[in-house]
Amino acid sequence: MTDLSFEPQRRLRPPAPAPLDAPLGPLATMRVLRKNPIETWTKAHFELPILMGPTILGAIAVVNEPAAIRRFLVDNAANYRKDALQRRVLGEGLRKGLLVVDGDDWRAQRRMLAPLFTPKTVASFARAINAAGEDLVARWLRLREGRLIDVQPEMARATLDVLGRTIFSDGLGRDPNELTAALTRYFLTVGRLDPFDLLDFPEWLPRLTKLNSRAALEFFSEAVDGIIARRKRLLVKGKERAPRDLLTLLLEAQDPQTGAGLSDAEVQSNIVTFIGAGHETTANALTWSLFLLSMSEEWRERLAAEADAVLAGPVEDYADRLIETKAVIEEAMRLYPPVASMSRQAVGPDDLCGKRIRKNTLVMVSQWVLHRHRLLWDEPDSFDPRRFLPGAREKIDRFAYLPFGAGPRICIGASFALLEATIILAHLMRSFRLDLKRNYVVKPVQHITLRPEGGLPMILRRRRQREAL
Ligand code: HEM
Repeated sequence: MTDLSFEPQRRLRPPAPAPLDAPLGPLATMRVLRKNPIETWTKAHFELPILMGPTILGAIAVVNEPAAIRRFLVDNAANYRKDALQRRVLGEGLRKGLLVVDGDDWRAQRRMLAPLFTPKTVASFARAINAAGEDLVARWLRLREGRLIDVQPEMARATLDVLGRTIFSDGLGRDPNELTAALTRYFLTVGRLDPFDLLDFPEWLPRLTKLNSRAALEFFSEAVDGIIARRKRLLVKGKERAPRDLLTLLLEAQDPQTGAGLSDAEVQSNIVTFIGAGHETTANALTWSLFLLSMSEEWRERLAAEADAVLAGPVEDYADRLIETKAVIEEAMRLYPPVASMSRQAVGPDDLCGKRIRKNTLVMVSQWVLHRHRLLWDEPDSFDPRRFLPGAREKIDRFAYLPFGAGPRICIGASFALLEATIILAHLMRSFRLDLKRNYVVKPVQHITLRPEGGLPMILRRRRQREAL
C-alpha cells in the first residue's frame, strides 16, 4: 500500500470499495451479499436521503436522512421490529438474550440489565480493563522487535480477555484456551449468511454453515452452567463473598416493575450475548484504529504523547483525559463501523422522508453508507479525527453517526466499549509503533461485523521513548 503518511491530514483516504454506478442484478446481488454486503451499495445510496425498491429480499427502504432515522429508531420505534433474518443469522446461543428477544420479554430484560451498564458500574470496570491492557503490552514486549503480527485476532483476544475479567472475574474454572477456542469456533460460523436464510427456507431445515457452531455452543454452555452453579453457591453463603462482576449482577438482576429475576437460560444467553455483541465489535474498532493510525504520523504522535501523560496518572481519570485517543476511535468507527447496518421490519404503515412505508417493508440504516454520506459529511471518505474533538463533536447530528444505534434498542454496552477501546489503544500507543506489512492491501469486509479481510498484518516495534522509561 502507498505510504500516505506525509500527505496533508485531510487527504488521508483509507481503502473502501467504490460505490456502484447502478444496482447489481439478482444473482450478482446474492453472490455479493454473501461475500461482502458493503460492495452492493450504489452511488445513489451515498447521495440520496432515502432509497426505496423491490429487491431479492423483498421491499427495502434504505434511510439516510437524520430526521427520518430519528422517527424510525426513536419516535416511532414501536412500528418496527427486529426481522426474522437477523434472528436466524445471530443463531441459537443468543436466542434468549437481550439482542434478539422482542416485545414484552425485551422490555423486561432491558429494565433488568440497565443497572449493569450505568456510568458508575462501567467506571468500576476501568481497573479490570486496564489490567488487560497492561497484560497485552507485557505479552507484546516479549515478542521479537520487528515481528509481524496479525492485529485482528490479537485485538479479539484482548477484548475477550476484558470480557472474561468483567463477567467472570474469579476465572473460568477450566482451561481458558479450550473455552476461547470453542467460542471462536462458535462466532466464526454463527455470523455467516446461509443461502437458506436469504431464501427464507423454513427454520427447521438444518443450515450446513451452522452445524459446526452448534457443537461449540454446547461445549460453551456446559462450561458456563458450571460457572453459574458455583457462583450461585457463593452468593447463597453471603453476597459479600462474591465478586461484583457482570455475572453477579446478572444473577441479582431484578425487574423493578415485577420483582422477577432472569432464568438460568436467560443469564446464560446474555453471557453469550455480551461476548458475541461485545468482543469482535470492540476488537474491530481497535483494529481499524491501529490501521488508520499507521497511515498518519501526526495522529500516531499525538496519541503517544497523550498516553504518556495520562497513563502516568490515576485510572479513574483515564476516561476524561484520553480525549484524542477517543476521537480516533470514534473516527475509526465512522469510517469502519463495526456494525455496518441495522434493519427492522415495519409492523404497520409509516411515512419516512415523505415516502410511504408499507407494512412488512424492511427498513434499513447502513452505518457504512450513513457515515460516508455526501449530504452529511465534509470529505466523507477522509480520516480526520478532528471531527470528534470537543467543539466539533457537538456539531455532528445525533442521527448522522450511529456506531451504537439509537433509540430504545441502542447498544447497552456502548460506554463500556468506548472505555475499553480507549484504554487499550492508549496502552498500545504508549508502548509500540505498528506499521502495516509492506505492500499489503487492506480490504474491509462485512461478515456480521466489519473487519479487514484476511486480518491485519502489522510490524510490531517498541517505541523508543518507552524503552527509555
Ligand atoms: C465497538 C463496540 C460495539 C459496537 C460498535 C456495538 C454496536 C451495537 C449496535 C449498532 C447495536 C444496535 C443494533 C440494532 O439496533 O439493531 C448494539 C446492540 C447491543 N449491544 Fe453493542 N456494540 C458494541 C459493543 C458492545 C458491548 C461491549 C456489549 C456488552 C458487553 C454490547 C452489547 C449489546 C447488546 C446486549 C445489544 C442489544 C441491545 C438491545 O437490543 O436492547 N455491545 N450494539
